[in-house]
Amino acid sequence: MFWTLQAQEPEDAACLRCHEDQATAAVGSVHANADVGCVACHGADDVVNGRHRYLPGFRPSRLRAVAQDCGRCHEAVFQSFQGTPHFASAARNPSELRLRSTCSACHGHHDTPKANRNAIQATCLGCHEASDLRPAQAVFVKLDLLDESLRRLGARVHALERRPGISVRASKEVLAAGEDHRRELRIAQHGLEWDALSARTDEAFGKSEQAYNSLDRRERAFAARRALGLAAFLLLLGTCAVLIHLRVRS
Ligand code: HEC
Ligand code: HEC
Ligand code: HEC
Ligand code: HEC
Ligand code: HEC
Repeated sequence: MFWTLQAQEPEDAACLRCHEDQATAAVGSVHANADVGCVACHGADDVVNGRHRYLPGFRPSRLRAVAQDCGRCHEAVFQSFQGTPHFASAARNPSELRLRSTCSACHGHHDTPKANRNAIQATCLGCHEASDLRPAQAVFVKLDLLDESLRRLGARVHALERRPGISVRASKEVLAAGEDHRRELRIAQHGLEWDALSARTDEAFGKSEQAYNSLDRRERAFAARRALGLAAFLLLLGTCAVLIHLRVRS
């Protein structure tokens, strides 16, 4: 190996002596990148004669406790997750893989990448028939459209902001509210309530499109006013030229 494994945090150095596999899996994960190491998730423990002592602060992360363990830091996600059939199934501690539907089933546990619903959809299919996932997929498609709409609005606001003549203050507020709404939806989708999610996504999408169209209308009105001004000016200039010309001739 041309590099050596670095402990994420000084307190993790001891763990790495025996758990190189887990540390290797974690390289490049969202948690490693955010300096969340072994002890941040599992707590510390004494290891005597190669055996853990399971001190009270140690969290070996048993299946039925994973959601709570992750929820120590992702509290809002846990709130939305805890009432679902996913949570209930994992809490029964089943041995069958298909029933172990806790956080790590969709996000992994040591190699957790940034959350991406398109990538995670493939994971859903490991446990569900495609036909059962239609309502979820419809919401995911709407979330894609919302993302695209907010991106387009953001680009337009950004471009017009630097030009005089059109105020973008109101549009900027809609954009910020839309982005907040979007963050809430990323968390709320853990609750699996597709009808409510669909309605909330539609609402956010409608507001974003409305703000974009309003900017568009105002930009066109502004351009028209400017063209009219220019035409009037040219007309005036032309009239003057004609008058001067007549004057010179007479
Ligand atoms: C001296 C070697 C050694 C050190 C140091 C060590 N472990 Fe372990 N760990 C083990 C062994 C061996 C096991 C297998 C279970 C057992 O026998 O205790 C294990 C199991 C685990 C498990 C799974 C426990 C379970 O019951 O499923 C976790 C989580 C864990 N270690 C985390 C840590 C963390 C975090 C550290 C650093 C604070 C650490 N270990 C330090 C040897 C070690
Ligand atoms: C983001 C939280 C998180 C971090 C960071 C983390 N773990 Fe884990 N770890 C878990 C969870 C959750 C499980 C159990 C997953 C399951 O059973 O679905 C687990 C399981 C384990 C196990 C049991 C065997 C296995 O690989 O599944 C060991 C050993 C372990 N972790 C050691 C470590 C060590 C060492 C580090 C630091 C390099 C570390 N963990 C970092 C959450 C974490
Ligand atoms: C000690 C606190 C802590 C624990 C415990 C923890 N995380 Fe995280 N997690 C973070 C931090 C910090 C980040 C990076 C900043 C962010 O995106 O919130 C993060 C990021 C993430 C992301 C990426 C979010 C995104 O924006 O794409 C996912 C997914 C995630 N964690 C899942 C989990 C899972 C699953 C567990 C349990 C196995 C877990 N986390 C346990 C602190 C924690
Ligand atoms: C059924 C699959 C599934 C399960 C189970 C699951 N998630 Fe997620 N998670 C997702 C999807 C899908 C996203 C959204 C990604 C997107 O919108 O692009 C997500 C997003 C996230 C994010 C990013 C949220 C943000 O603020 O941007 C975090 C953090 C996260 N999950 C943590 C967890 C934790 C902690 C648990 C357990 C309590 C959990 N997830 C359970 C599928 C799952
Ligand atoms: C580890 C397997 C697993 C994964 C991965 C998984 N699920 Fe599930 N899902 C379950 C289990 C188990 C249940 C509980 C009901 C059951 O026993 O079928 C469930 C229930 C559901 C339900 C509720 C169905 C009902 O009858 O109320 C929906 C909706 C759902 N899952 C959607 C998803 C979506 C969307 C994803 C991916 C983002 C996903 N699931 C990923 C195992 C999984």
